[in-house]
Amino acid sequence: MTYVKLPVLDESGYAIVDSYDQNADPREWENLVYVDWKSSGDTRFAPLASAYGDMECDGFWNHTPAKTDKDGVWVQENIDIAPILTGRAHEVGANVGRCRVIELQPNTYADAIYNLHRDDNNRLNPEGTGWIVRSFYNLTDNPDSVMILREDRDDPSTETRVPLPAGAQVVIDTQRLYHAVWHAGTEPRYCLITSYESGPELDTWISARNPRTRCQSPHLDPQIILEGNESARNKRAAREAASAKSNSVDTTGMEVLSEA
Ligand SMILES: [Fe+2]
Repeated sequence: MTYVKLPVLDESGYAIVDSYDQNADPREWENLVYVDWKSSGDTRFAPLASAYGDMECDGFWNHTPAKTDKDGVWVQENIDIAPILTGRAHEVGANVGRCRVIELQPNTYADAIYNLHRDDNNRLNPEGTGWIVRSFYNLTDNPDSVMILREDRDDPSTETRVPLPAGAQVVIDTQRLYHAVWHAGTEPRYCLITSYESGPELDTWISARNPRTRCQSPHLDPQIILEGNESARNKRAAREAASAKSNSVDTTGMEVLSEA
């Protein structure tokens, strides 16, 4: 299928742009209304835009009428609490789909590898329109945590680890790259995640912020990588075996998870 895509994301599937001065802002995310929504770890979400403006986080295609991940409706209660975060989501000027703050509890490298998944952002997206990608704005200061990106879920040689200090901003084609966050802290990590339609508005926003399409991953002991891969492989095998045994459809399949 043919979609409008951004050349800046062609090479690596991600673009790291200049950091935002997060420390100058109030910590709006601490006052938002969160709903339980498990995705890629121990998580909750505070929706700023949902399918029809309700305080919920389901994929837009799971509503009636179903829609693609565009034309999100702002959730009044939360945007009233977080005008600055809402303004940052608007700033790009592109069509916004899902927009929410994720709260992620600390986890391990092995957990993150198990959580690696691709998003399903473009389900129902009409051919010829803009490909949906996602921005991640790190809100809390988590310099020792990383966004793990892989072209091939099972191949560590394709891995990039993007550090997540406060204000880090990354745009990712999350339907192309496997992704999950390894959050090494002791307190929850918070991040604003927004679905955007690719087009001139997003291209302009990225271009104005010195995009870097390669990142030098912080060093990680090869043994940890090896053990993380093995642990994830074993857990997936156990899950598949349990699913086969119960003879039911595995509705928790990582392919449909949507956050990081
Ligand atoms: Fe995701």
